[in-house]
Amino acid sequence: MGAPKYFAWDYHTSVEVGSGCRTFAAQRFTEMGCRRVALITDKGLAEAGIVDQIKDIFEVQGSPALAGVYDRIEPDAVSRVINDCARWYRETAADGILALGGGSVLDSAKGVKLLLGMKATDIKELIPGNLGPYLKPLGKPLGIPHVAIPTTAGTGSEVSPIAVIYNEELRIKANILHPYIPADVALLDPDLTLGLSPKMTADTGFDALCHAVEGLASPGANCMIDALGFQSVSLILKNLPAAVRDGNNLEARSKMLVASNMAIMSFAMSGLFFPVHNIAHAVGGQLRISHGEANAVLLPVVLKEFSRYYIPRAEELARAFGVYKEGAPPESLLVEVVEAVRELQQKCGVKPVFDTKITGMGLENLFWAVKFDPAGIFYPLPDDIIKSCLGSCFEKQ
Ligand SMILES: [Fe+2]
Repeated sequence: MGAPKYFAWDYHTSVEVGSGCRTFAAQRFTEMGCRRVALITDKGLAEAGIVDQIKDIFEVQGSPALAGVYDRIEPDAVSRVINDCARWYRETAADGILALGGGSVLDSAKGVKLLLGMKATDIKELIPGNLGPYLKPLGKPLGIPHVAIPTTAGTGSEVSPIAVIYNEELRIKANILHPYIPADVALLDPDLTLGLSPKMTADTGFDALCHAVEGLASPGANCMIDALGFQSVSLILKNLPAAVRDGNNLEARSKMLVASNMAIMSFAMSGLFFPVHNIAHAVGGQLRISHGEANAVLLPVVLKEFSRYYIPRAEELARAFGVYKEGAPPESLLVEVVEAVRELQQKCGVKPVFDTKITGMGLENLFWAVKFDPAGIFYPLPDDIIKSCLGSCFEKQ
C-alpha cells in the first residue's frame, strides 16, 4: 500500500449529540456574543409545537432575546423565500441565526447567512449559472453566529459547506459551495425527530445513505472519507429500518442523526462526483419530488446502470454494506451491494420506482435537465447512462 495522496479536511462545525441537547441553544449564542437571535423554521414545526419548545429555552435563560420567528420557509429552499427571510432578518435587527428544521430550512438559513454576509439582496445573484463556488480564499467568514438544530436525519446540512437552493424561475436546484455557510454549532437532539412519519424517516435516511455511497465511490475518496462512509452505512443499515418501524426508538433516531452527520462530510469532502444526486436534483427539480424520495428510488438504479463507475470501488462498497466475499470479482460484489440496497428499500417501505408515469417528451426534457444540472458540472454523466437510469426509475405505461 502506498502513502495516501494529499488531502485536506475542514470540519467547521462544533457538533453536540444527545437527547435534550437542544436546551444548550441559547447558551451557545451567549458564548458567541449574541443579543438578538432570529429563529428560522417552517409552519409544520410551528404547528407541531417544536418552535414553542425552543422559544421556552430562550425565555427560561432570559438572554439572548429571541428577536423573532420566521416560519415561512418552503420545501426545497426556494430563492424567493430566502430573499424575503433575509429582508425580515434585517428588520428584526438580529445578530444571530438559529435554524430549526429539515434540509430545506437548514439550506435556506445558509442562503440567508450568505446574503447577509455578502451584503446582497437576491440569492440568485450570488449563484450565477446556478453554481456558486466560493472556495477559500474567495469564501470569507460571514460574521453571523449560527446554530443549527436538524429535525430530520438525512441531509446533514447543519455541517456541510454545500447549500442546494431552488431557482423557481428555471426549476433548477442551484448549488452553493462555501466554507463558512455551515453552522458554528450543530445540536443533534433525537427528541425532535420522534414525530417524523415513516415515509419521511425512510426518504431522509436514504438521502444520508446516498451521501455515504457517493463519498465512498468517488475517485476523490481517501481514508478519512472511507472511515465516515463505512460507519455511516453500517449505522443506517441497522438503524433506519428500526426508526421507520418504531418512530419513538430514541436510540435508532439518535444514531441516524449521527450517521447523517458523518455521511454528508464523506460526500462533501469527496471531490464533487455525485452521479445519484445529479439525476435526483434534476428529477426532483422538474417533477417536484422531494430530495430524499428522489435519492431513495435512484440509488440502486444508478449503482446498477452505471456499474462501470462503481466497479473500481466495489470492494469498499461491499465491505461497507457487509456483503464482501474474499476472492469474488468486483462485478459480483457490486450486484450484492445493489441487492443490499433493494433489501433496505423493502424494509423501509421505499418504492422501487417513482409513481409518476413518464414517456416521450417528458423523458426527453428530463434527459436535458440531468445533462445541464449544476450537480453534474464537475463530473458530467455519459448520455447512455442518463437514458438508461431515466428509463428504469419510472412506472412503465
Ligand atoms: Fe442529498
